[in-house]
Formats: sequence, C-alpha cells, structure tokens
Amino acid sequence: MSKVSTNAVNKVKTKEAAAPQVKLVTLDDVRRDPQVIAYLKRGAEQMALLGFTEHGERHASLVASIARNILLRLGYPERQAQLAEIAGYLHDIGNVIHRENHAHSGAFIAQEVLRRLGMDYEEVSYVIAAIGNHEEERGDPVSPISAAVIIADKADVHRSRVQNPDPLSFDIHDRVNYSAKRSFVRVDAEKRTIAFEVDIDTSLSQVMEYFEIFMTRMLIARRAVRFLGCKFQLRINDIDLF
Ligand SMILES: [Fe+2]
Ligand SMILES: [Fe+2]
Repeated sequence: MSKVSTNAVNKVKTKEAAAPQVKLVTLDDVRRDPQVIAYLKRGAEQMALLGFTEHGERHASLVASIARNILLRLGYPERQAQLAEIAGYLHDIGNVIHRENHAHSGAFIAQEVLRRLGMDYEEVSYVIAAIGNHEEERGDPVSPISAAVIIADKADVHRSRVQNPDPLSFDIHDRVNYSAKRSFVRVDAEKRTIAFEVDIDTSLSQVMEYFEIFMTRMLIARRAVRFLGCKFQLRINDIDLF
C-alpha cells in the first residue's frame, strides 16, 4: 500500500474512532443502568418522605408499559412505542433533585443517561421533550411519544400508590387514590377512543373528590388523547362521565 493510501486509511480509522457510538437503546438497558436505579430509588424515597403518593419503580414501569401499548394499539411503529416506553420509565426521575420542575430536571438527567448509553440525538430529542412536557402545569403533548406518556401518567390512580400507613391522616390525594380499586386505560383503535376506566369505592371517597384533584390532569390527558386523533372518555364505576 502506498504512503498516501495508508494515510487515507488511517484518517478514516481516526474519524471512526472519534464518532460517538450509536446504539438502539432499549428499556432493559435503561432499567439496568446504575444511575437510573439509584436516582429512581432516591427520588421515590424523597417523595415518600414528603408525603407524596408512590413515584418509584412501580409507577415508572406501569407508565412505561401503558405508553408503549397505547402507541402499538393505535398502529404506531415499534421503535416509536419503545421510545415512549423509555420516556415513560424515566418521566419522574427529576424527583431526585426536587419535585418542583421535576419534568425539566428529569429531561436533562435522561439526556445524560441516554447519550451515555449510545442513543442517537434525534431519538433523545423525542424522549426528553416527552419527559419535559408530562406535567399539567406547563406541559403539552408535542409528539405521539409525549402524548402517550401524558395519558399513561395521568391514568395511574390506584390504592397501591398510597404510602401513608395511617388512614386517619389521609389527605384528599391519599383518599382518592386509596378509593381507586381498579384503573385501566382502554384504547379502541377502531372507534378511535381512549377511555380512563376507574372503579372507586365511594364509601372512601366521593366521585366529586376525584374531580377536585384530577380536573387539571384530565384536561391535559384529554389534550393528549386528541393529539393522537382520538376521543377521550372517562368512565367511573361503569358510568360514562365524558
Ligand atoms: Fe411527574
Ligand atoms: Fe408520574
């Protein structure tokens, strides 16, 4: 090989070595990551300490799987559903820093983790936008991935989220969550409807209380459902409320 062509080969090799490694990151990669494990665990402990409902591995996994299922049922590509799953799993990771602005701090944490794991920038951009927009105070659905995460997150109302061991000191959030014996997101791809189905034990909490604390969440969920071209339905104790 001539000197010129050897130099050219070396140049290409150096370029290849300098390029960031891009990898198809999966939920399993994210779930096994030591930084994710530590931050989710600590964030959940802090939320419990501050009297919030459960925000740990259970909530993260549930939001991940519901977000993925919503997109798959509506016919979105598998990889888009996987990104919704990853965003769903990481959406509350910012709680490790502070509850306030946890959507935004979580997006930065997710960016660091996902880049380190090798996800390409375009995919990262969808995931961090979904995380940064998941809260009703300042979020909005900005992509199908983001809409799926919002719907999955707002649907998680269940008695297993209550961490306060003393029912006598339950606040309204504890009461409403504790009264929810079943909650389910029903996606009907043919009718283009997405329904929140909740069974509430009305001896523990009135349906009005559910509305009192969940109205703003319902509104962002409805916007997210519309973003996906569907109609939102809320069904409490088998009664269609809207
Ligand atoms: Fe959140
Ligand atoms: Fe959440």
